[in-house]
Amino acid sequence: MTAKLIVKKLSKLFNDEKGEGLQRLKRGETKEQIFRETGVVVGVNDVSFEVQEGEIFVIMGLSGSGKSTLVRMLNGLIPPTSGEIWIDKDDVASCGMARLREVRRKKITMVFQHFALFPHKTVGENVAYGLKMKGAGKQERREAAIEALSKVGLQDHADSLPSELSGGMQQRVGLARGLATDPQILLMDEPFGALDPLIRREMQEELIVLQKELKKTIIFITHDLNEALLLGDRIAIMKDGSFVQVGTAQDIVSQPADDYVRAFVADIDRSRVYTASDIALEAHKISPKATVADALKVMLINDVDTIHVVKDGAAAGYITRQDANDAPPGTLVSKLMKPEPPSVSGDAYLNELYGPAQSGVPVAVTDEEGKLVGVVTQESIFEHLVGDEDPEASENAANDEEQQEEGRPQ
Ligand SMILES: Nc1ncnc2c1ncn2[C@@H]1O[C@H](COP(=O)(O)OP(=O)(O)O)[C@@H](O)[C@H]1O
Ligand SMILES: [Mg+2]
Repeated sequence: MTAKLIVKKLSKLFNDEKGEGLQRLKRGETKEQIFRETGVVVGVNDVSFEVQEGEIFVIMGLSGSGKSTLVRMLNGLIPPTSGEIWIDKDDVASCGMARLREVRRKKITMVFQHFALFPHKTVGENVAYGLKMKGAGKQERREAAIEALSKVGLQDHADSLPSELSGGMQQRVGLARGLATDPQILLMDEPFGALDPLIRREMQEELIVLQKELKKTIIFITHDLNEALLLGDRIAIMKDGSFVQVGTAQDIVSQPADDYVRAFVADIDRSRVYTASDIALEAHKISPKATVADALKVMLINDVDTIHVVKDGAAAGYITRQDANDAPPGTLVSKLMKPEPPSVSGDAYLNELYGPAQSGVPVAVTDEEGKLVGVVTQESIFEHLVGDEDPEASENAANDEEQQEEGRPQ
């Protein structure tokens, strides 16, 4: 893996002409205290991270936690107070304006909030707009726009006006505009924030599908942990300008770093975080050529009531203890087994497992080649849905947060 973006000890303080805020931060004073005593606003406080090529890195936090300030520094819209921002061999924090323009032209694009479109330009012209800024010719712009539109399924709407498209389609046009310039890094600051939940879900799915093909390096900002968990390869949780935790969805849900993170985690839809392979248990197997007596032995040793009959690595059927007990011990497994065990692919989310698990038969979890790699049971699904947060701790964290919000400048 190659790091596409490396951020080192990045900070941004507003209204800190005298550098007093930075001194106080170093002494360990809080954002709230510094603002109260000096009027200096801590936007971003000593943040370091790396984003790998092709990764979706999500930055998540409450309003005012510093997300927008951070991404605006990444493409040089706001100069940092201190720190480094490396994109390949350029430090965006210190390179000159000419170099910065070059980096923006070739490497990094901001997809603006709400994907605002020009109402009087056609869809195609909207998408081509960023290319015009880059100095591309008319024909070239048109072709790139059509190609970007085709990536979001709207190639036939290039000559429509935005108002002729549905809300969801307009959002896709905005996304196509970001893609048209073919940036290496896409910055997306709450792009789906203003959408109603259904369109929002649609756009999230769209982005996931697109990313499978495009493999861009994406920094995605959201205040919604469900969205963060769905989209992020890794997620950084931000509070008062600092990162309080960076990890995968599973890391964050299973081991929240503090009460602030725990409060978010308490609200999430766990069924969309864990996949079948995350929670799969060992599958107990038997060959179709074995006897019922052999099958019973496997069940006894492993203390299970159902085992899978495996042929060429795939689950061909299953045998229950009840059926095995009722059959003569010498019967072949292939004669007794029930065919077509419920099965799901390893990357299915928990919310897709309720149906298959309903019969009570352990659900076969399969890999890309259809081989049996584990099982999920109703119990294991339930355990992961409930989790083990301490609800009292979460509530306290939420209250702390509210109090801080009140003292925060807008
Ligand atoms: N131009 C500015 N001048 C002063 N304070 C600002 C400015 N921009 C943002 N802030 C403050 O910086 C903090 C982080 O803001 P922002 O990055 O917009 O947070 P988020 O995007 O997470 O909602 C907030 O306390 C906000 O009030
Ligand atoms: Mg913001």
